[in-house]
Amino acid sequence: PALSGLFLCNCRGGNIMNKQQPIGVIDSGVGGLTVLRRLQELMPHEHFIFLGDTLNTPYGNRSREDIIRLVNQMTDYLSYRNIKALVAACNTITVLGEETIRNGHDFEVIGMAKGSKMIPRVTKTGRIGIMATDFTISTGAHKKEIQAAHPEYQVFGVGCPRLVPLIEHEQFGTAELKDAIKEYTDILKSHDVDTVMLSCTHYPFLKKEIEAAMGPAVTVLDPAEVTAKKCRYDLCERDLLCKTGTGTTEICFTTDLERGLRLASLMVDLSACRAHVVGLERQDPAQKVG
Ligand code: DGL
Repeated sequence: PALSGLFLCNCRGGNIMNKQQPIGVIDSGVGGLTVLRRLQELMPHEHFIFLGDTLNTPYGNRSREDIIRLVNQMTDYLSYRNIKALVAACNTITVLGEETIRNGHDFEVIGMAKGSKMIPRVTKTGRIGIMATDFTISTGAHKKEIQAAHPEYQVFGVGCPRLVPLIEHEQFGTAELKDAIKEYTDILKSHDVDTVMLSCTHYPFLKKEIEAAMGPAVTVLDPAEVTAKKCRYDLCERDLLCKTGTGTTEICFTTDLERGLRLASLMVDLSACRAHVVGLERQDPAQKVG
């Protein structure tokens, strides 16, 4: 009875999940690949399905209703693919809240870490900058969580709407990208921050450039690894962590596979991945595979 209790508890709908089921990883585009690489490193036996909605990116300048509609399409697809857990590898999605993201599905949702545990290890002045999409900043979610844990910190959020389209369109090293980075880092410098959180999963593509622009006295933090650890912990707790066998990764985009894969090659080993384009509106969420 104790054992069946354990199994019955490992998912929300009362269905029994098993270790071999895949983990879904979602983002509005290629940003979530910066999280996928940490998930792969930390959980080499898992099966991942990465889904980047490159057709509808960026999400960060859309309304909440619009973002929820697009996220529901992705989670319906991944529910049909029978995932055991979902990593929202996107801050703009994470700030919707776990219940909204889950939308009645039975898998656990793991959102991006917001920084309240990482920041105290590095800040000396307690002046923190958050770089994120306009939507993420408008919710104040990161600032609220950080200040709830550390009321003495001053947190400055900066919406950076120019960055995601430039990354998605591979504008690395261009004058426009340099100018956009300068625009946002100048604001953070004017607040004299000593720590910057990359609270959009696209921005680690630009970590070196952001570090160079902020200067050596500032620490730039990417929460991807902490988020991957949160996912592993959650799977362990539910006895769903895969500990044997060779892991696999499937990469799905909603448009332009070639561009997506060029960007993906900067983050993950593509020789070990399968990749294809999926059309999200055709899925029937009532049908599950596997
Ligand atoms: N990668 C995303 C995030 O972490 C969102 C980018 C966007 O679509 O605007 O917020």
